[in-house]
Amino acid sequence: MTDLYAVMGNPIKHSKSPSIHAQFAEQTGQDVMYTAMMVPIDGFEQAVKDFFKGGKGLNVTVPFKEEAYTLATQLTPRAAKAGAVNTLKLLENGDILGDNTDGEGMVQDLLNQGVTLHGKRILVVGAGGAVRGVLQPVLAQLPSEVVIVNRTVEKAEALAQLFQTEGPILAAQFSEITGTFDVVINGTSASLNGEVPPIPASVIGPHTSVYDMMYAKEPTAFLSWAAEQGAGNVIDGLGMLVQQAAVSFELWRGVKPATEDVHDKLRALLNSTP
Ligand code: ATR
Repeated sequence: MTDLYAVMGNPIKHSKSPSIHAQFAEQTGQDVMYTAMMVPIDGFEQAVKDFFKGGKGLNVTVPFKEEAYTLATQLTPRAAKAGAVNTLKLLENGDILGDNTDGEGMVQDLLNQGVTLHGKRILVVGAGGAVRGVLQPVLAQLPSEVVIVNRTVEKAEALAQLFQTEGPILAAQFSEITGTFDVVINGTSASLNGEVPPIPASVIGPHTSVYDMMYAKEPTAFLSWAAEQGAGNVIDGLGMLVQQAAVSFELWRGVKPATEDVHDKLRALLNSTP
């Protein structure tokens, strides 16, 4: 029998997840159906309950990741630390397991692009939900140092405090950042408005890899800025989208899908849209 999966969000119309998961299912021969579900802002809990009367697993996106965290009856350690859940799985005993595959997805994408984090000095820009969701997997790669900067420095300080048991992490103001970083990760939503946070250009050197969790047809404002400063390598978040989906798929089905072709096709599709 076909097993049912879905992504819930609001809005959800432009979600690429159904296409990604359909490709994973075909490639691995898994008998699954994956749809996108638009859920009213105040109707998430009910929608989840209804779904799991027959469904096996859900992806959760904006704005329901924190609510999914509270609804899950079990959490993976990384989801517990993230305070947000993007993947729910119905377990045999009826429990609903909550996981967060965003950070692992980003780390996997970086590795696929030849960027390792072990022993590296990493600057993380932003201190919202997106950043909180990735810090544990980033620190698990054993970087030499993670510095978090944010417009509202108190939020960066709170995250540094929360994750201090996971590895070497500290908060800073934009004006306090010194030295060059091996990897710079943008987790702010500033690119949505074409804005770039006021980071000193000196953080970027020729060997710096710069990653934006966002993606668009054109390079994001952050990546354009980084390229202008001479960054050796700029990468957008399209691969993170594919990799987080792959980690979810593996959690549900126990099979790891190949991602390269899916990523290439998505890029081609993005480039061909007007
Ligand atoms: P998300 O869930 O996408 O992380 P969020 O929790 O609202 O969304 O966080 C947005 C992040 O982008 C925050 O770090 C925010 O900075 P503040 O905490 O100071 O608000 C950051 N951000 C958004 N627009 C920005 C801009 N124009 N310049 C700098 N930082 C910006």
